Amino acid sequence: METGLNGKAAIVTGAAMGVGRAIAYALADEGVRVTIADIDEGEGRKAADKINSGGGEAIFVRTDVTQSGQVKSMVEQALSRFGRIDILVNNAGIVGQQGPWHLLDEENFDQVVAINFKGTYLCSKAVVPHMIEQRGGKIINISSCAGKTGEENNGVYSATKAAVWNMVHSLSGELGQYGINVNAVCPAAMDTALMEKVYRERAEHFGLNPDELRKKIADGFRLPRTLTVEDAAGVVVFLASDMADMMTGQGVNITGGIELH
Ligand SMILES: NC(=O)c1ccc[n+]([C@@H]2O[C@H](COP(=O)([O-])OP(=O)(O)OC[C@H]3O[C@@H](n4cnc5c(N)ncnc54)[C@H](O)[C@@H]3O)[C@@H](O)[C@H]2O)c1
Repeated sequence: METGLNGKAAIVTGAAMGVGRAIAYALADEGVRVTIADIDEGEGRKAADKINSGGGEAIFVRTDVTQSGQVKSMVEQALSRFGRIDILVNNAGIVGQQGPWHLLDEENFDQVVAINFKGTYLCSKAVVPHMIEQRGGKIINISSCAGKTGEENNGVYSATKAAVWNMVHSLSGELGQYGINVNAVCPAAMDTALMEKVYRERAEHFGLNPDELRKKIADGFRLPRTLTVEDAAGVVVFLASDMADMMTGQGVNITGGIELH
């Protein structure tokens, strides 16, 4: 079956590294032209250069997803370069402070909510009018299995991930009539800078050291290996493709069996 992805245009936020970068590379491998929107100019440009030097097409646009003006300008630049936006991957996210809910700072709450939830709101708001005009598009929010279950000592992050998962229920209802699919993916732990911070800062709250916490999480996988960013990217590519045209409003677990519902 054809993916239908060749020649399409995508925006991937937070794609300078980690999960977002793996998604940008995987989409580019399918012939998708990619806008990398990230605050990290050095790594973002490197990721775009790698796609361009490998025969794909990508631009980097420095974008803080919490700033509506920057988001609007990024979407305009993506449109002016590629003429359309078929896919939006709302991936930019931070984990923030780790620890019991009542001890987390108010500034941390504001920052985690701003990047993980408001950023997803602003990028979707900026892209949806173009998708409506095109009569089609795919929006994919990167949630987390923590968004489904909550997570001790990671409550604010988990709540924002529940928000971006919940959003797909509302948006898929509003946008289905225009042929726009809205889904989320809910991955478990993958080795990235974000998870390094989690192992470093959450372990002590469970009376463990970082390596013991990493092992405890890894032991939860039902399959014989741990999850990689490429595993998550593969599912995102599928959801962005024609093969997932009749999937909408879903929160797809990518958890090696850690989370089943
Ligand atoms: N790594 C995991 O185990 C895991 C599991 C489930 C979900 N996720 C989700 O995947 C997404 C990516 O996580 P990751 O592990 O790759 O993290 P990461 O820290 O490796 O990368 C995050 C990227 O987001 C960018 N970013 C941060 N703030 C931004 C802002 N205001 N505007 C634009 N870009 C910004 C960073 O510069 C970076 O490139 C996040 O939404 C995270 O919640 C990760």
